[in-house]
Amino acid sequence: MLFVVAVAVVAVVVSCGEVDWGAEEEAVKLLNDYHKEAAQVLHNYIKVSWDYNTNITDYNNERQKEASSRTRRFNDKWSKRSRDFVDLDLTSDTRRMMRKAFQMELNEEDGKNLSQILSNMSTIYSTAQVCLQGQQCMELDPELTNIMANSRNYSQLVEVWEGWRKNVSRKIKPYYLQYLELMNEKAKLNDFSDAGQMWRNEYETEGFEEAMEELYREIRPLYNLVHAYVRKRLREHYQIDPRGALPACVLGDIWGRIKMCTQVTMDDLQVAHHELGHVQYFMQYAHLPLTYRDGANGGFHEAIGELVGAVMETPQHLNKVGLLPHPPSGPGHEGPLHTCDLHGSEEAGRVLA
Ligand SMILES: *[C@@H]1O[C@H](CO)[C@@H](O)[C@H](O)[C@H]1NC(C)=O
Ligand SMILES: *[C@@H]1O[C@H](CO)[C@@H](O)[C@H](O)[C@H]1NC(C)=O
Ligand SMILES: *[C@@H]1O[C@H](CO)[C@@H](O)[C@H](O)[C@H]1NC(C)=O
Ligand SMILES: *[C@@H]1O[C@H](CO)[C@@H](O)[C@H](O)[C@H]1NC(C)=O
Ligand SMILES: *[C@@H]1O[C@H](CO)[C@@H](O)[C@H](O)[C@H]1NC(C)=O
Repeated sequence: MLFVVAVAVVAVVVSCGEVDWGAEEEAVKLLNDYHKEAAQVLHNYIKVSWDYNTNITDYNNERQKEASSRTRRFNDKWSKRSRDFVDLDLTSDTRRMMRKAFQMELNEEDGKNLSQILSNMSTIYSTAQVCLQGQQCMELDPELTNIMANSRNYSQLVEVWEGWRKNVSRKIKPYYLQYLELMNEKAKLNDFSDAGQMWRNEYETEGFEEAMEELYREIRPLYNLVHAYVRKRLREHYQIDPRGALPACVLGDIWGRIKMCTQVTMDDLQVAHHELGHVQYFMQYAHLPLTYRDGANGGFHEAIGELVGAVMETPQHLNKVGLLPHPPSGPGHEGPLHTCDLHGSEEAGRVLA
């Protein structure tokens, strides 16, 4: 009896965080070896992806698919090696790094299929055209983007919006369904119930969904006010139900996440700063081990971008770079946003134009 209790106590102590230093040393060595090879394999993959994304040709598409297969095989080899370490007692940092570095991959055939599906979806998106009645066919950037931003002709906006969905969304749908199937399969290989759970896990937050729900509830009163304000302004141009939802086609864009052909406008200046925020974050983590050269999570990366974008729009900064002729009167507001703050960026937008 005494013996059983003693064993139970030892078991509890070990599983609560005692570190097996021999295993820890081997795990750290495994990660170091992995980082050395991965630095080359991933560099090559990113380079080939860049060539493809900035110059979509069949040849670059083939190279991208080959690089993707090579990377998948590479990841597969290392995640298999790392399996021996799953149940060992490592420091929490090493365990975390291993979890981020090593994921089980789909088999060769499914992996090829997935990479082909991704490539087909991105080709459809990047090469689609919409052909308006009696006009030449137009691509997303710059023609369709310009119409969405500048036209006040409701039926033209609807035509572009629907044309885009006919030529992009409908063609992407069958690939997207297969993509879901394969991603769910990959999630299961990594002990998640589905791809959604795998993605949420990236945030490393207990009760992540409840926390998001709570944030949404908190911000909803502000969101309702902004929504009502936007609806009021849009009603100056369009017949919109004064109490209803906003039609998506009059909001100024077609929802791109794409290469950017920048124009000299306040919006694009803001986006450029947002993107530079990402670049600044890249540089801040460049010295970390390869596995940690990424945002803490995707949301945090966006938050840094948004922060830099928002700071750019303060009256103080706009005045400093010559976009706001009159210096702000005081040290700037604290607390609630004032209409004069919004006025500052409208005025700067006019200077830019
Ligand atoms: C685009 O890729 C092709 C190879 O498919 C290459 O010959 C061409 O030089 C590239 N163009 C640019 C602008 O890099
Ligand atoms: C991707 O598109 C090509 C060309 O249209 C087609 O031959 C291929 O079957 C598609 N791939 C998949 C996985 O559906
Ligand atoms: C979709 O694209 C094709 C060819 O690029 C074009 O002929 C067709 O008119 C487009 N459809 C719409 C709704 O614009
Ligand atoms: C608005 O767009 C529609 C459809 O593209 C077109 O037929 C009509 O002439 C346009 N109206 C004006 C006032 O430009
Ligand atoms: C993989 O690709 C083939 C066509 O190339 C297709 O028939 C099959 O359904 C695809 N999808 C999945 C999820 O395996």
